[in-house]
Amino acid sequence: MEFFIDTGMVDEIKEAAKWGIIDGVTTNPSLIAKSGRSQADVIKEICGIINGPISAEVISTDTEGMLKEAYEIAKWHENIVVKLPLTEAGIAACATLSKDKIKTNVTLCFSSNQALLAAKAGATYISPFLGRLDDIGHNGLQLIEEIRTVYDNYGFMTKILAASIRHPLHLRDCTLLGADVATMPYKVIESLYKHPLTDRGLDAFLSDHAKANS
Ligand code: G3P
Repeated sequence: MEFFIDTGMVDEIKEAAKWGIIDGVTTNPSLIAKSGRSQADVIKEICGIINGPISAEVISTDTEGMLKEAYEIAKWHENIVVKLPLTEAGIAACATLSKDKIKTNVTLCFSSNQALLAAKAGATYISPFLGRLDDIGHNGLQLIEEIRTVYDNYGFMTKILAASIRHPLHLRDCTLLGADVATMPYKVIESLYKHPLTDRGLDAFLSDHAKANS
């Protein structure tokens, strides 16, 4: 299971890099907008912090525009993954980029049939959005399970990148269902470390050690 951090805030990425467990970064236009900086500036800086796949999303909605952006974005760094929306235009752009050996992340996936289209287009990653399905009363985790089954049934190599992860239980269930990657906000990754019994146990160890050595 690879861990990506889902943010456009460089300070968060610098902090998370210290944990030694971050394999890559995902961004989207909303996250980049929150940074108040240009996508090019943010992504180039991130590439200098994390040595792993860095997703940067196109904003064009037609295939030609997506490809123009994709070839430009891909020049920024060898670790760039071009993020494309799961639309007809996005899947067509993905098929072309796959032939050109440019890594892709097909985003905004909400059904296993959509994930199948991305895999057939040679996507490097598919990003099913768990939290947003849960938000409308659907079961986001069931989507992960379905995509895992479909990809395994046909031997597709596209990696399942579980996205829109909102809390530790989402991650736990994604690991049990065999997602390849989880991208999570800083606060969700930070929360994975926390357990009251760890804190209580450590307090007891330190207190016993102090008593024995006083
Ligand atoms: O990577 C996709 C992710 O950023 C979406 O998360 O919480 O906006 O649904 P969320």
